[in-house]
Amino acid sequence: EKGGFATFMDKEIHDQPKAVADTLLGRTDDAGRLRLDEVHVDEAVLRQVDKIIVVACGTAAYAGQVARYAIEHWCRIPVEVELAHEFRYRDPIVDARTLVVAVSQSGETMDTLMAVRHAKEQGATVLAIVNTHGSTIPREADAVLYTHAGPEIAVASTKAFLAQITAAYLLGLYLAQLRGTKFTDEITDVLDDLRGIPEKIQRVIDGAGRVREIAGWMADTSSVLFLGRHVGYPVAMEGALKLKELAYIHAEGFAAGELKHGPIALIEPGQPVFIIVPSPRGRDSLHSKVISNIQEIRARGARTLVIAEEGDDDVLPFADEVFRVPQTPVLLAPLVSVVPLQIFACELATARGLDVDQPRNLAKSVTVE
Ligand code: BG6
Repeated sequence: EKGGFATFMDKEIHDQPKAVADTLLGRTDDAGRLRLDEVHVDEAVLRQVDKIIVVACGTAAYAGQVARYAIEHWCRIPVEVELAHEFRYRDPIVDARTLVVAVSQSGETMDTLMAVRHAKEQGATVLAIVNTHGSTIPREADAVLYTHAGPEIAVASTKAFLAQITAAYLLGLYLAQLRGTKFTDEITDVLDDLRGIPEKIQRVIDGAGRVREIAGWMADTSSVLFLGRHVGYPVAMEGALKLKELAYIHAEGFAAGELKHGPIALIEPGQPVFIIVPSPRGRDSLHSKVISNIQEIRARGARTLVIAEEGDDDVLPFADEVFRVPQTPVLLAPLVSVVPLQIFACELATARGLDVDQPRNLAKSVTVE
């Protein structure tokens, strides 16, 4: 059942091109327009939504954080992302025009379920993005958009994460289409770009020899930092979470822009730091700002492990290692740039002799609050 792989985690990392492709499948009509038939929410209600709140835990919350950048850009609706267990305790401002999106692989996470109940009590419309059919969260939500990642057995999430981002993007594009935003003309292009993602993920997996090798040498590392910016920021957080979960190594993700406001004090000679570099084709000179960050930490002795697009040679003078990902439109980049980080965590945990499928103290679905 592991399909020839040593662990479920390794298998599920390799399942990712299919998880994304299957989540996209059958969601457009012959004219290329999005059709989310399962979302039985009155279109009039969706047209009136004036705020979206994503509630989720762990990796699913990082998928929400990634999606926030895309949905706000495409729909011009404000999006908040809240950890499900914090949501109801802050007396959130929720009403009939709020769309609450609950993201969960298992559909059983009690913290997320309680957030769903609270949102419904406040009159919000609740849409679930869930992988497991027939689970509790979609039963209680007003609508469900299933991810088609297939069963995820390893406790730490990999393919469900990519499928969650994909589904949340479909939701964002659907809302843009429905509401006729300025962005409508570009929807077909984004869908085409999304359909090209599985092949790019496959290339990252096939080319991951070096990241596996480096991870194999790092079994004794005591701390790894991750920096990213814009959509790369939640990717950095997810990279750190994977390493904590699988390898029990202290890891932290930061927004690269925050570096000079504190985290740079952590940099000492030899400190490994992953940096997720935004596309040089992106907006607002983010690329050059992140290159400067790499330069700053390298000058203080950090060991810089850089994830950068193919052809981005600006990183070369400051990178101890470069892990390449294919050129990808900015908002879709997390779907490829997180993959080397998953592989890194999996390999490092294996090098430490740990059980990557069943990490200590963790459960696949946490059905208590
Ligand atoms: C945690 C799991 O308990 O729950 C994480 O260890 C997972 O891997 C998180 O991301 C959320 O789970 P779910 O099923 O709601 O996506």
